[in-house]
Amino acid sequence: MKVITSEEMQKIDHAAINNYGVPGIHLMERAGEACADAIRSRFSTATRKSVLIFAGKGNNGGDGYVIASKLHAFGWDVSLVILAHRSDISGDAEISLSRLPNSVMLKCCCDNESLAAFSDLGQYALVVDAIFGTGLKSEISGVYRQAIKLINSSGLPVIAVDIPSGVDGNTGAILGVAIRADLTITFAAAKLGHVLYPGAVCTGELMIADIGIPSEVVQRAHGYEFVDAGSATALLMPRLPVSHKGSFGHVLIVAGSTGHTGAAVLAGASAVRSGAGLVTLAVPSSLNQIFEIKTTEAMTLPIEDAGRGYLRRESLAHILAGLAGKNVVALGPGLSRQPETALLVQALLTAVSLPLVVDADGLNAISENVSVLGKRAASVVVLTPHPGEMARLTGLSIAEIEADRIGVSTKFAQLHKVYLILKGARTIIASPDGEVAINGSGNPGMASGGMGDVLTGIVASLIGQGYPPFNACRLAVFIHGYAADLVAQEKGEVGLIASDVVAKLPVALQRLLR
Ligand code: APR
Repeated sequence: MKVITSEEMQKIDHAAINNYGVPGIHLMERAGEACADAIRSRFSTATRKSVLIFAGKGNNGGDGYVIASKLHAFGWDVSLVILAHRSDISGDAEISLSRLPNSVMLKCCCDNESLAAFSDLGQYALVVDAIFGTGLKSEISGVYRQAIKLINSSGLPVIAVDIPSGVDGNTGAILGVAIRADLTITFAAAKLGHVLYPGAVCTGELMIADIGIPSEVVQRAHGYEFVDAGSATALLMPRLPVSHKGSFGHVLIVAGSTGHTGAAVLAGASAVRSGAGLVTLAVPSSLNQIFEIKTTEAMTLPIEDAGRGYLRRESLAHILAGLAGKNVVALGPGLSRQPETALLVQALLTAVSLPLVVDADGLNAISENVSVLGKRAASVVVLTPHPGEMARLTGLSIAEIEADRIGVSTKFAQLHKVYLILKGARTIIASPDGEVAINGSGNPGMASGGMGDVLTGIVASLIGQGYPPFNACRLAVFIHGYAADLVAQEKGEVGLIASDVVAKLPVALQRLLR
């Protein structure tokens, strides 16, 4: 699914009106009609066909005036509250208001006192929010704030027009206060604010209505890819009947230290469970007995560590020798934050020409000298930071990163010529060429230890299987969250563990193939 910015939507409207001769008032009519149709069909069994519409003075309000007229024509009892003076309304919105039948109850409320008449909404079957759309520019205050609080506390079903009032269309941020809708009906395409958190929660169910904008105009918008089950399925490569284990790659995972053997085991198991032909864990030799017991399908390559329990710069030659026959390297899970390990990571970056997936302590090692990315030997490097690791990589604060997840990821990926997976609710996947995708799968149960190691294993596995890097990244992130969603459906989100996600990976892949 394509997701666009508010500015792109404005350009789409502009192109439809000016290049294709679709009058703006027609777009408003179609938008209002689509909402009224959706309400009529969803509430066909409601005993009280009674609706309260809150509308602003802009074009989002204009959509609301059309909804009022249409629902009235369908026989509904309609009350319209405009949070502005009538004289403030102009353009297409004014035309729509002038067409409102007299029998629609209309009240203009410009202050909290006049809004007080609507303190009890028990007589209505639902509320429509047409206060602000993509034109919201700043924090909401005054009567608008009061109205939004009133709607949210009404306990009634809430239908938002285009975007819940208060949600920033480009970032999903809440501008002071925002409507919590059950259903949001948007036009032509989803906006970033619908899918990014916290806007995604306010949006509720999202419906995208066709309002007569020529499809080529919408297609021309650059937008962002929202990775869902459909787009993930389209990325899957078929497995030929004559395949053998050599067909699906051999992943080398450089990982593990005392106290962190589980991270290495999880990464190895997830590589196996996501279809890798062979997986080898390069681990500190003093911990090898543990790995021999903990892993079954994955092999181990014990790297001499002089009993330290972590890998060191001295391990370089041994690891490089272990690259024979491998076609991708994952670097980081549970490696330790020892300075000697960081030197090893930096040396491996400059020496390994196979595709590299770097996570966890591998990222921490890079953070100490980010310029090492410019000296790397591999043409394909994937970094999978969570916001804390991204903060160390960039020198930005976590708050700065969270406020602009797409912008920060895109810039870093292009500057350092890496594939960047910024983890979190709605993981961002950015390519060195400026491509960006937003992941649609996953749930809060994934906020538990070891989950990132699982993702590292999947990314490396898919690259090893021959997936182009950006496809591997998008698919890996989606499958990871999708498997976790399947686990959550069975067992709930609380107590969801990384091992359960690994075990569910084959089912997730099979579901996508169906
Ligand atoms: N507080 C008060 N008023 C505000 C604020 C704010 N924080 N931010 C913007 N406004 C005012 C603007 O000055 C303008 O008058 O709200 C109005 C903009 O509201 P919108 O209806 O969201 O913007 P507009 O560009 O008119 O319409 C976009 O039209 O195509 C439809 O529903 C679709 O969302 C889309 C909407």
